Amino acid sequence: MILLSIETSCDETAVSIIEILGDFPNATYSVIGNSLFSQIDIHREYGGVFPALAKREHIATILPMLERALGESHLKSSYTPALSLEEKDFIHELLKRENGLADQLIQFHNSVGKPPIDAIAVTSGPGLEPALWVGVNFAKALSTLWQVPVVPVDHMEGHILASIYDGYHLAKLTFPALALLVSGGHTELILIKNWNQYEKIGKTRDDAVGEAFDKVARLLGLAYPGGPEISRLAKTARETNLPPFAALPTPMLKSPDFDFSFSGLKTAVRYAIADKDLTETDKQAIARDFEDSAVTVMIHKLSKAIDQYTIQSVIIGGGVAANTRLREAVGALASVTLYPNLKVYLPEINLSTDNSVMIALAGHAHLSEALSSDEFTQTITANGNRSL
Ligand code: KG4
Ligand code: ZN
Repeated sequence: MILLSIETSCDETAVSIIEILGDFPNATYSVIGNSLFSQIDIHREYGGVFPALAKREHIATILPMLERALGESHLKSSYTPALSLEEKDFIHELLKRENGLADQLIQFHNSVGKPPIDAIAVTSGPGLEPALWVGVNFAKALSTLWQVPVVPVDHMEGHILASIYDGYHLAKLTFPALALLVSGGHTELILIKNWNQYEKIGKTRDDAVGEAFDKVARLLGLAYPGGPEISRLAKTARETNLPPFAALPTPMLKSPDFDFSFSGLKTAVRYAIADKDLTETDKQAIARDFEDSAVTVMIHKLSKAIDQYTIQSVIIGGGVAANTRLREAVGALASVTLYPNLKVYLPEINLSTDNSVMIALAGHAHLSEALSSDEFTQTITANGNRSL
């Protein structure tokens, strides 16, 4: 079968076309079309993502992304008769908040026809609701034009599956597994007892860890998104053996639960640098101190959960999974002295931040449910707070 997937939950507009042979989780997944537009340069000026601006950019880029992915796939479309007035009205109604998109899509459909796509997977949450709606409404409009079902996907499940995807297959996981999901909007520990069985056992009580990286970067005058910048400075600090700049806290390290808190760590950085004229080496040392504290807390909670639930596989997912320090520390857990039988899964760097390949994987996981449920495609809604 051929699955089209759409991701618009934050600041990436992405469309993929995946050819799938077999059933979840043992299928072979081949990416035959893939396009992604990152809005990072647009949001950088403001130091963060603005929902209304993100929505506008998704509206402007989603059809070009679809065209590019379809072009790359070389799928041959079949001729379709021109749309009736009623059909056109329906598309206009579906896309009434996506200014101008209905007309562009109708024109595209009239000239291209129906590609051999069997189903559409779209991120329905969590994320920025105005941004999510663009993808959801666009998926519904395509579903109407092509007469195919839509599967609403949890973005975080996408991150989990991206981390165990090698470009063709999903890893044969040994359960129970544990996922640490770390992104700009989330910091969560998810217990996975079996395929499609998720239980959230821990979360951040305030800032997400990626958000803390971004905010500390802003305090240091670094560009958005701050994660990679902090990581770069921290690396230099380690290579040159800089002394500690400040004794930063490791919030909730000893708390009896699996929750996190990163807002105090960020505030500690703010106090540590207040009224100081920072040199380049000061910034490097602070970046390193901050990264060490954040990684220490994540690894500690991870180890505690591995012990408590006799975890066999650990999966790290989300944008912060691109962080070298975290990757090394998680890799070290699976050592002879610590957990010799533990399997550790880290995403390929280009699949760690938001993309639509991961949405196709999660869509396929729930395809049969979606096909057999009464949930009609047109009743799918975007839900900014969707949770595993
Ligand atoms: O998953 P993602 O692309 O988007 C969300 O769903 O939030 O994650 C983006 C986050 C940003 O906060 C960014 O600063 C962080 O991931 N990030 C990093 C690194 N690369 C991206 N944080 C630390 N180190 C990195 N190398
Ligand atoms: Zn994400």
